[in-house]
Amino acid sequence: MDSLQEKLKETTEFIKSKGIGNVEFGLILGSGLGELAEEIEDAQTITYDQIPHFPVSTVTGHAGQLVYGTLAGKRVLAMQGRFHYYEGYSMQTVTYPVRVMAALKAHSLIVTNAAGGVNLDFTPGDLMLITDHINFMGSNPLFGANIDELGPRFPDMSEAYRLSYRTKAKEVAERQNIHLKEGIYMGFSGPTYETPAEVRFARTAGADAVGMSTVPEVIVACHSGLNVLGISCVTNLAAGMQKSLDHKEVVATTERVKIDFKTLVKETLKAL
Ligand code: 6GU
Repeated sequence: MDSLQEKLKETTEFIKSKGIGNVEFGLILGSGLGELAEEIEDAQTITYDQIPHFPVSTVTGHAGQLVYGTLAGKRVLAMQGRFHYYEGYSMQTVTYPVRVMAALKAHSLIVTNAAGGVNLDFTPGDLMLITDHINFMGSNPLFGANIDELGPRFPDMSEAYRLSYRTKAKEVAERQNIHLKEGIYMGFSGPTYETPAEVRFARTAGADAVGMSTVPEVIVACHSGLNVLGISCVTNLAAGMQKSLDHKEVVATTERVKIDFKTLVKETLKAL
């Protein structure tokens, strides 16, 4: 079996052979937010199934491709569709694309997701700047032997979500008249939504929003030395805070806030 580094070498050589290089920002587009990739100029697209060692996504509504090009004047490599732990992938597999972005010399990662609101002041459609996270997924992508060439054994997570990037995003939101909340994202494994008791627990633990992604990718981004900006789209309130939950509502809400979401990401990219 090839080592992680050997796989990364083959993956990045393939991607570079398609003319993709000089990546500045990695971009992970969450559920319903993939449309932003359509605004990438001089776009080059590679579907995941073409890329050596890349996992293949299973969830419908996810295109499952990398889109490379210029967005707001920056060279970006966007993931349209991500891999979730609840799909049965290992955490190492879920975060492989972040390793690839780092190997392609990206210096920053913008992660986005659809999340459930836990903070009593939140309403569906709110955008939330992620200030910090709680890993409640029951695993960690860095379990196992550390590869010192890729990062430290015990990564510092004291500023996982870069403060200077958050400041920029807030300035942009103010300037663009975009209502932007901020708060802590708590990652659950899923695929079940939380019970009302788990939602009370999350709130007591200090969470403002809950979701099933992002945490593994941000851990690997920190391990790789990437600066992270995280944005949640609060698509619904968590269980016990509204009548019931279904995936259709998540999709409908992202549809509604797409314009603000796209403006926020693009204008922040421009400012970074
Ligand atoms: Cl309520 N919970 C989780 N874990 N993920 C979500 C969600 C809720 N709403 C959207 N994504």
